[in-house]
Order: sequence, then structure tokens, then C-alpha cells
Amino acid sequence: MRMPELLPVLDQKTIEKLIDETAKRISTDYAGRPLVLIGVLKGAFIFMADLVRRLTIPVTIDFVGISSYGDQTVSSGCIRLTRDIGMDVCGRDVLIVEDIVDTGLTLAFLIAHIRSLGASSVNVCALLDKRARRRVEVAVPYCCYEAPDEFLVGYGLDFDERYRQLPGVYRLQFNPEGAS
Ligand code: IMP
Repeated sequence: MRMPELLPVLDQKTIEKLIDETAKRISTDYAGRPLVLIGVLKGAFIFMADLVRRLTIPVTIDFVGISSYGDQTVSSGCIRLTRDIGMDVCGRDVLIVEDIVDTGLTLAFLIAHIRSLGASSVNVCALLDKRARRRVEVAVPYCCYEAPDEFLVGYGLDFDERYRQLPGVYRLQFNPEGAS
């Protein structure tokens, strides 16, 4: 049996500072433009909560559910909408809030979906971006931290639905049983 070990990547203080800076940029860039934030469940729930409380502009909030991973650490490549947006985004400025961008497949799917609903602009904010692993080109203009090409957990991110509650971000390392 594989025994995962948690190796620190970002602590709580560092995450707060990164979100502060990103929230300031968003508040400046969208000043005077009412913004719709769409959080991607489940991973973005903690990031969304911390981000919105730092924004100084009026926003409305909704969530979408998307599934692509199952209980594996690699994307299946098969994206499924498990919960659709519940509000009208036609003619609105939309900012997608993601926990982490990896292959880009989820975002490419979601951007196309939101555009098809008639949004006047669609932009992306992510806590983490594993840019080296992109399979489709998607820009992440509001990226808090460029992450290493490792499987990460904590601060909303899970492995098989575990570790979401951790206040920091950790790298999940699988050691063979018996290894020190
Ligand atoms: P993508 O479609 O490959 O870009 O994957 C995006 C989604 O995969 C994210 O919203 C996460 O839910 C999940 N994901 C990607 N990398 C990780 C990771 O390192 N840890 C936990 N979840 C991840």
C-alpha cells in the first residue's frame, strides 16, 4: 500500500499575502464594472471565500460543479458539468475562480460554456497554476502562484476527497510502504 507524505509548499500567511495582491489587482481592473464570480466546485470553495472578502468592488457569486479526476491524480480528460451556473450571465463580465489549473482542459471547457451563455467577457483567477502541464492553451491573468509540477493538496484541493481542510498547500508524495 502507498503511504502519502505531506510536504509544505505554501503556508497560510503566504497564501493570504498572495490573495491580497491578486484581490487588489482585480478590484483595480474591474472598478466600475459589476463582476460575476463563478467558483469551480469543490476545490475553489476556500479560495473563493478568502478572495471575495478582499475585493473592494461589488460582485455577485455563483458556483459550477465540474468533474474530471475521479479518485486519480491525473485528469481523465473527460470533463462533465455536475452543477450548472444558476444565474443569468448574459452581457455580464465573468471571472472564473479556480483552485488550480493543470492541463487547462477544465478551464477551456468552462470558458466556452460561459461564452455560449452570452457573457460579455470571461476571465480567469486561480490560486495555483501548473503551467508546465498545459495540454490546451488557456491564459490565467490573475494567478496567485505558479506551482510546481506535483500533485498538491490542502486549502480546498483534495486527493480522493481528503486534505481539503488543511490551511496550507502541500505536495503529496507517495512513498513505498516501509521506506523512510
Ligand atoms: P485541468 O482540467 O487538468 O486543468 O484540472 C483542473 C482541475 O483538476 C482543478 O480544478 C482541480 O480540481 C484538479 N487538479 C489539478 N491538479 C490538481 C492537484 O495538484 N491537486 C488537486 N487537484 C488538482
